[in-house]
Amino acid sequence: MLLELASRCETVFDSRSQTPSAVRSRVLGAWLHLGAILFAFILCATCAGVPNVAAQKVQLSVDVSKGGVKIDRNIFGQFAEHLGHGVYEGIWVGPDSAIPNTRGIRNDVVAALKALKVPNVRWPGGCFADEYHWRNGIGPVAQRVVTLNPNWGGVLEPNTFGTHEFMDFLDQIGAEAYISINIGSGTTREAAEWLEYLTAAQPTTLAKERAANGHSAPYKVAYLGMGNESWDCGGNMTAEYYLSQLRIYSRFVRNFNPAQDKQLMLKIAVGPGGGEPRWTDWTEAIMRAYQHHQWSWTMDGLSLHSYTVVKWPPSFRSVGFGETEYAQILKSTLDMDDLITRHSAIMDRYDPQKNVALVVDEWGSWYAPLPGSNPGFLVQQNSMRDAILAALNLNIFARHADRVRMANIAQMVNVLQAMILTDQERMVRTPTYYVFKMYVPFQDATFVPVAFEAGTYEHDNIKLPRVDAIAAKDKTGRLWLEVTNVDPNQPVEIEVNLTGMTARSAAGETLTAARVDSVNTFDAPNTVAPKPVSAKAEGGRLVLRLEPKSVTVVSVEP
Ligand code: AHR
Repeated sequence: MLLELASRCETVFDSRSQTPSAVRSRVLGAWLHLGAILFAFILCATCAGVPNVAAQKVQLSVDVSKGGVKIDRNIFGQFAEHLGHGVYEGIWVGPDSAIPNTRGIRNDVVAALKALKVPNVRWPGGCFADEYHWRNGIGPVAQRVVTLNPNWGGVLEPNTFGTHEFMDFLDQIGAEAYISINIGSGTTREAAEWLEYLTAAQPTTLAKERAANGHSAPYKVAYLGMGNESWDCGGNMTAEYYLSQLRIYSRFVRNFNPAQDKQLMLKIAVGPGGGEPRWTDWTEAIMRAYQHHQWSWTMDGLSLHSYTVVKWPPSFRSVGFGETEYAQILKSTLDMDDLITRHSAIMDRYDPQKNVALVVDEWGSWYAPLPGSNPGFLVQQNSMRDAILAALNLNIFARHADRVRMANIAQMVNVLQAMILTDQERMVRTPTYYVFKMYVPFQDATFVPVAFEAGTYEHDNIKLPRVDAIAAKDKTGRLWLEVTNVDPNQPVEIEVNLTGMTARSAAGETLTAARVDSVNTFDAPNTVAPKPVSAKAEGGRLVLRLEPKSVTVVSVEP
């Protein structure tokens, strides 16, 4: 086309033998033609929907012969707190609801979550956990105590969703229980009795009460959280005070059914909430106590809470934002890597065998509440930016798989960076939901190192790695590759170089959207949804072409 333009210009200016008016009309005609060509060129690029920019090239090397550690499926865990519509309406509608349900639990939400193969759900909080009294949530529903939820909007807590309803919900979605006990405002006896009620196989009075309430077999509690944010809403404790409580609770709060499934209940202590010195001091104190065996139990995990907020209080909008806020949030979320590295280094000093997992049991984006919503309900939209954010964090966890063996995104439904949003009988899957779905093949897969020069995406003086990637082999030996193109404007061409395998093709799904703040709404639920993607090796080269701001997961076929 450019050659054609050049030759046209030559024709215009080689006009000495023409009369002035003929020349003028030829010149005019040529310019009109030139304009038409340019117009067609612009139109063509727009119609095709392809960004009018050249793809950046990135070489990605994967040594398939090198197997790393397992990416524990528990890093895809969820968190469901009694907060806003996270439980009530989001999960629980009650058996008499017109919304289709099974024993009060929404069928649509269960079906959507089943597809994510959710490994575990953390419940009942969060801050709520340290004010939760389990006996309020058992027995005939009509007789349940109604309390308040002072942490989250001061609303009534009907206690209609309690221990049995939570366990039923887990059964329906196929997940394991991660229960946080009340160390802040409860008693050791209360927590010990809850565990006896849940797990005792022998006919104790509490086990019989459980049976009378509909479950004769003991429940399995796979993970036990020893309080929540005990340095803040869990009781404003110092590390020393928390450790003194931990010694007492760890002595008396038992799993009474340890033989079940041959799996012990893994116990997770409250860990740090950030990277500043006070948090490193907290990690030091807990890990030092662990090393000196200051209690009569094994500590299986240390929790870490870290939200992407840029600064408190959360003020970034979850929808209707531009590229600068996109870049700021993603820059901030990448701090997770440094945070994990720093706390892991402390843990390594006290636990070089890595027996204690770092459990990132609250993470995700935290934005300003949606206008018009109850600020205590932490309602936010979930955009293409959140999908990228989720992928970047999951990749960080996978790269730290030797220490990070569990993580719980906050939160599962209707709260913060949710998988699912509901409004009465309507439900929508968020972009984050789709990322979790696309990552299912990485659950318990073996990490395979990937080498690449990420390049740089820059906006408003904010610099970010242009691409991110992980690879893993699943149980059948199949190689999976995830590549995130952070750049919201430029496509990227990934040349995959494999050692130990010859790739013939790749196929999977890609998630992208028109804008960085594209969201799924109840009226337009499929604005951000994955679409199939595939590539064939040509001349021994496997090249993946990724759209701007996209998350792509493919399996590589030999
Ligand atoms: O997820 C919302 C809240 O954030 C949790 O209740 C608390 O643990 C954290 O501060």
